[in-house]
Amino acid sequence: MTQDKWIAVDRYITDMLVPPDAVLDAVLEASAAAGLPPHHVSPNQGKLLMLLALIHQARNILEIGTLGGYSTIWLARALPADGRLITLESDPQHAEVAHSNIAYAGLTNTVEIRVGKAADTLAQLATENCHPFDLIFIDADKPSNPDYLLWALRLSRQGSLIIADNVVRDGAVIEANSTDPKIQGVRRFNEMLGSEPRVTATAIQTVGSKGYDGFAIALVTSDESQYC
Ligand code: SAH
Ligand code: DHB
Ligand code: MG
Repeated sequence: MTQDKWIAVDRYITDMLVPPDAVLDAVLEASAAAGLPPHHVSPNQGKLLMLLALIHQARNILEIGTLGGYSTIWLARALPADGRLITLESDPQHAEVAHSNIAYAGLTNTVEIRVGKAADTLAQLATENCHPFDLIFIDADKPSNPDYLLWALRLSRQGSLIIADNVVRDGAVIEANSTDPKIQGVRRFNEMLGSEPRVTATAIQTVGSKGYDGFAIALVTSDESQYC
């Protein structure tokens, strides 16, 4: 199997099951025009995130890593009218583009973007309120994934869903001696998930327009993770 075939089949699935969406298309165009890197999830993956949030009946979502807000919009579309999504972004320019994209998608009242290093905005979030998130999507700087998992657990309750993007990285994740801090971050994250008694987790490999990568999915099964 080749990357060409993965792309062709991804396109086929998207043609069949992910109808063209003028808003999401415009969001990707605006992000590219603003010079943002093409690190957003694919349309098919965005719909998977939306479906997981719908299946889970999520009302409160936390996203770590906004970029132009593409995955944000998919996730926010799964929320009920009074649902809320908080998304964390360190790059002010990315946040500005996301702000405009989220407004274009009509989600300004649903989505709150917090600008700053996630290490800081997560610490701030944890001091604020006692509303654990139903779903947490981790998709920012990969070396920090281990820290983000610990924060995600603190901001969770029994039954919360934690999803992480990019846990396969073209297969490089199996290179134990990799000197790439991104790979080491993802490896440590996967190890922690595997040994963490408070979650039941797995990971799936994905191929398609985003190349060869994967998602980790973890259900918080313990009532001991909650921070308040
Ligand atoms: N979730 C997005 C893609 C996110 S790309 C989507 O699928 O559409 C990763 C984002 O994380 C980038 O915008 C990057 O600026 C941001 N980021 C990197 N380091 C960060 C940090 N320390 N804190 C918060 N955001 C960070
Ligand atoms: C990168 C980050 C992502 O979240 C992604 O989906 C693809 C690539 C990156 O930093 O290279
Ligand atoms: Mg990603």
